[in-house]
Amino acid sequence: MMLLLNRILALALLVIVVVLTLTALPSLGGHPLGAEVLLAHMAASGAMVFVLPAYAVVGLIGMAQHPSSNRLRSFGFWGLVVTGLLTIATVFVCMLPFPSTDQMHQLIFWHSLAGYSMAVVAVVWVTGWFTKTRTV
Ligand code: HEM
Repeated sequence: MMLLLNRILALALLVIVVVLTLTALPSLGGHPLGAEVLLAHMAASGAMVFVLPAYAVVGLIGMAQHPSSNRLRSFGFWGLVVTGLLTIATVFVCMLPFPSTDQMHQLIFWHSLAGYSMAVVAVVWVTGWFTKTRTV
């Protein structure tokens, strides 16, 4: 049951990260996210705020029950969780009443960096799915 839940959450998270990354790409050309692209980014980010913590909790329970020595999988899991939380946190802090406009611009810069790092780590994470697991 936990394994099935883990797989469903992992697949959902993969789709979410792909949508977030694709909708973020215009920023690489110096264009701000706007209109439908920003709407899609917002919709996917709302989903990630729920799916990432759920995936992290289910993954931690799974690791506690079946410890594995697969380093690629561990790196993928922790890398995704840490970069994902940083991606969320940078936007969350922006919504608080205390950052100045300048600080908000900096936070969005760090948000982009954390988000693109997450996209890169997601490649390692998915690669880990296809590597052999050795239970310790
Ligand atoms: C793989 C994950 C993600 C990537 C690659 C990513 C990347 C980006 C990029 C590059 C921008 C444009 C920044 C700019 O205009 O310079 C952006 C904007 C934004 N992102 Fe994300 N993001 C991700 C996840 C998220 C999540 C999880 C949230 C919310 C919890 C979020 C909320 C936002 C918001 C609100 C903006 C608009 C900022 C603005 O235009 O003022 N993003 N994102």
